[in-house]
Amino acid sequence: MGKIMVVGALGQIGTELVEALVEKYGSENILATDIRHPSQVLECSFEILDATDSSRIDDLIANYDVEVVYHLAATLSAKAESNPLGSWDLNMKSLMIFLELGREKRIKKFFWPSSIAVFGPSTPKNNTPQRTVSEPNTVYGISKLAGERWCEYYSEKYDVDVRSLRYPGLIGYKSLPGGGTTDYAVDIFHKAVSGEEFNCFLKEDCMLPMMYMKDAIRGTLQLMDADSSSIRIRSSYNFSGISFTPSQLADEIKKIIPGFTINYQPDSRQQIADSWPSSIYDEEARSHWGWKREYDIETMCKEMIFQLSQKVES
Ligand code: NAD
Ligand code: SER
Repeated sequence: MGKIMVVGALGQIGTELVEALVEKYGSENILATDIRHPSQVLECSFEILDATDSSRIDDLIANYDVEVVYHLAATLSAKAESNPLGSWDLNMKSLMIFLELGREKRIKKFFWPSSIAVFGPSTPKNNTPQRTVSEPNTVYGISKLAGERWCEYYSEKYDVDVRSLRYPGLIGYKSLPGGGTTDYAVDIFHKAVSGEEFNCFLKEDCMLPMMYMKDAIRGTLQLMDADSSSIRIRSSYNFSGISFTPSQLADEIKKIIPGFTINYQPDSRQQIADSWPSSIYDEEARSHWGWKREYDIETMCKEMIFQLSQKVES
């Protein structure tokens, strides 16, 4: 078996994905890469890589005998608005490098995440279906929608085995997010377990689709393991977990930490959130390759608070 390379491996998703891949395939089969150095020793090989550097990517693929790539490097929604062209460049250029490697059959399988950000203000907000009006008005959403179209194109024209999920806001305890609109739902737990008040940058009734990271990683591996014939959507799959508002999340946290307090100071990220769906309908993911979420808001909160409290204590 060739190796699996994770690009952007030190981020919120990469940190947990690399751990899961090491556990599943063994550390000798995984290569983690990122543009920055890890803050602690990883359980697998690590190389510095700028995801827009095609010749360095060529070298790593050849030197490590890489067959499968998970490409996670991107500029996320809120951060992308402050650097539209730079974000477009990273998000698109890097994707095209890997799709080309797929076309040349130098990699066999490729995962690239899309996002609920492909939807826009004119999209139906509740139970947003797989195929619907998609007119994103953020740099990030435009880059993800364009990326989805390219993925489908390379699959149809060049038989590239590309697989993708429209992740909702992901919530995990192993690393801090950076630059997303859904980041509040991670930060809130860090403040709650340290006994601090939380200033939320979204309105209390802003309902967004979210998912516990463990579910997201399990779903990602399930999609990548599925028989190619069952993957009938090669743009990106709707992928649903749980939907809640900041106030509902705060109420759930208060059940475990009664003294927790939250206040609301919406900023420019509210506008981005307003353009996204409140909930996602993911019938295709469930029927094509068997997706089923496990965590609800209650089990997610219990686990987040338990794990972060242990970290604080140690
Ligand atoms: P993140 O920002 O936490 O991690 C991205 C990683 O990429 C970082 O470690 C960063 O150092 C690295 N990186 C940045 N520029 C790079 C470059 N030029 N070359 C190589 N590495 C570079 O992001 P994340 O939350 O882990 O998200 C990963 C992917 O999933 C992204 O494509 C994102 O759009 C998508 N996604 C994430 C969420 C979410 O809620 N976290 C939701 C939807 C989609
Ligand atoms: N969670 C991501 C963000 O807020 C959605 O893709 O940017």
